[in-house]
Amino acid sequence: MNHNIPVITIDGLASSGKTSISKKLSTKLGYYFLDSGILYRSAAFLALEHNLESNPIRLIKIFNTQINLVPDNQLRFKIYYENSDITSTLYKEEIGTLASKISQFQEVREHLISLQHSCVKSPGLVVNGRDMGTIVFPNAKLKLFIVADLSIRAKRRFEQLQDTNHKASLKEIEQMLESRDKSDKHRKISPLKAADDAVEIDTSNVNIDTVLDNILELYNI
Ligand code: DC
Repeated sequence: MNHNIPVITIDGLASSGKTSISKKLSTKLGYYFLDSGILYRSAAFLALEHNLESNPIRLIKIFNTQINLVPDNQLRFKIYYENSDITSTLYKEEIGTLASKISQFQEVREHLISLQHSCVKSPGLVVNGRDMGTIVFPNAKLKLFIVADLSIRAKRRFEQLQDTNHKASLKEIEQMLESRDKSDKHRKISPLKAADDAVEIDTSNVNIDTVLDNILELYNI
């Protein structure tokens, strides 16, 4: 990994707005963008396909041969499976829940570190997830930690799902997010937490353009 290429890490709670912020920020800066959640989500997708929810070693082997991570022409990394871009299909709530379980396997986490490092490309990388600032990119140039109230995150997620076939009630989504927060924060390896040098941003009552302006100011642009 080239340490001279700038990396901005954006960690935070599920549905806190980190992906929307990361996309806007990477576009503004002309940087690559990786949502590391898609790696855990694609592992969950494969676990479902091959019935490997409790077999991380076999899962990693299959992941290596069947999953490819490729940037598109907007410099956003996408997941390819059997030569098709499956990224948008990975955002189902049930895949997120299984990804949270699979992400607790040390073998899976360790395996994905080098893949995440390989995404550091010139002129820079914006990367989001749970442990980007703490474990994967401890020397990042700027580290952000995004939070928002549970009820607001559930409402945002509910609205996103309205446009898809995955119907769930607001209450169900709130419960799923709450249990995912709990499992991500309390797992033994790489739990979700802010790095000591991360700046916390609460997006509960702030619009995304204001958040973006604040981040650009922090980044000194
Ligand atoms: O960010 P997301 O909701 O797409 O992530 C899905 C799950 O993947 C999340 O609940 C925990 C796991 N994950 C992780 O453990 N570490 C990351 N860097 C990103 C995601």
